[in-house]
Amino acid sequence: MRLEDVDLADNDKFLDGETPWRMFDVLRDEAPVHWQDEGDHGSGFWSITRHADIVRVDRDAETFTSMKFVNLEEVDERQATIRRSLLETDGPRHSVLRRIMQREFTPRAVAGYEVFLRGLTARTLDAALAKGTFDFVKEVSADFPINVLAKMLDVPEDDTQQLIDWGNRIIGNTDPDYADVLLHSAESEKYRDLPFRSPASIEVFEYGRELARQRRGGDGTDLVSKLVNGTPSDGVPLSPNDFDNYFLLLVVAGNETTRHAISHTMRALIDHPEQAEKLRQDLSLMPNAVEEFLRWASPVYHFRRTATRDVEMHGQKIAEGDKVVMWFGSGNRDERVFDSPYTFDVTRQNNDHITFGKGSPHFCLGNALARLEIRVMFEELLPRLADIKLAGDIRRVRSNFVNGIKELPVTVTLA
Ligand code: HEM
Repeated sequence: MRLEDVDLADNDKFLDGETPWRMFDVLRDEAPVHWQDEGDHGSGFWSITRHADIVRVDRDAETFTSMKFVNLEEVDERQATIRRSLLETDGPRHSVLRRIMQREFTPRAVAGYEVFLRGLTARTLDAALAKGTFDFVKEVSADFPINVLAKMLDVPEDDTQQLIDWGNRIIGNTDPDYADVLLHSAESEKYRDLPFRSPASIEVFEYGRELARQRRGGDGTDLVSKLVNGTPSDGVPLSPNDFDNYFLLLVVAGNETTRHAISHTMRALIDHPEQAEKLRQDLSLMPNAVEEFLRWASPVYHFRRTATRDVEMHGQKIAEGDKVVMWFGSGNRDERVFDSPYTFDVTRQNNDHITFGKGSPHFCLGNALARLEIRVMFEELLPRLADIKLAGDIRRVRSNFVNGIKELPVTVTLA
């Protein structure tokens, strides 16, 4: 791969699961702060690909804001409020919004779901494994994280398929198999005020509003009840718009990401049977292994910031208003930080991965939940299996945002 062949704006280059890593390798070596044109699709962005630089950007929310429309000439107040979720808010209001949910996602709080999770995992696995040959994504990884969120939000189990479809349409907005309106298509302009420019967002908003209506004033302990009945610490109630965005974020943020982490881990354990065997022999290695699963999977390729002032990095002049993209996946393969970064090693030590971000006020709120889900999944799965093999071609999500697996056909032999 040569530098001139790198195009991180081209979603097609992310389809084979190989090219992105080669592009990251070249950038880390030759152009760690690299200007990426987006053609007709956008104004371009700076790609940040080394671990240390990503951490610097992620930590410095003053210089690299998550508020996409701040201080820019094209500020459009309507859009600024419509699309502003926790992820796109900075400063004191961000802390206030985050505090509403913080306690629900601490390691201690999520540990309270472990028994439920184990039961759910066992049911999911027993039904899937009995089929012998099946699509691991459809039967296992897609179903699992959304059922956990359904429990936390207290939505009926019957609605989970609907939530999965919405997540696919919203996060998979660059994949023709998922998106009803492809991002960057002329039609997507019509939806530019909506999260991910996806019309599915409207359906999620309507669904969330109905739940809010039913629970307002009640004494429920689910996340929707907490959002509608709690008082934020600055005393400013959530606007209907705040609620819509928060609800949508909770539905999509913990769903696709954890799903893909589980699918990538399954694939890695198929490709590295000796690592699977090591774990099967000693399940106490699992918490350490989960960190390697997360580094290896890197389910979120990137997050974007906007520079609030002129700043220089590696000799490049990043101007106020420029978009700056942190490629977490690339940071997770940085040879400056990880020994043999392309080796999958469940006993890896000093694993300073940045899969959930690092040092940022936006550091993944659901990280403890994701870690728990992945640990329980593989603690339950490995003892049930004597063998597992690929049974066909893997299909990936067409996206430079999520590192996603759409289909993972497998054949299993039970223990
Ligand atoms: C934020 C990754 C699971 C909820 C983030 C960020 C990343 C990320 C990279 C942004 C960090 C930054 O900007 O520095 C992941 C991955 C997951 C995962 C890879 C699974 C393996 C979850 C789960 C939830 C969740 C299970 C639960 C609902 C959130 C929320 C934010 C966030 C609400 C926004 C936090 C804020 O802006 O303050 N996640 N996530 N995530 N994640 Fe996760």
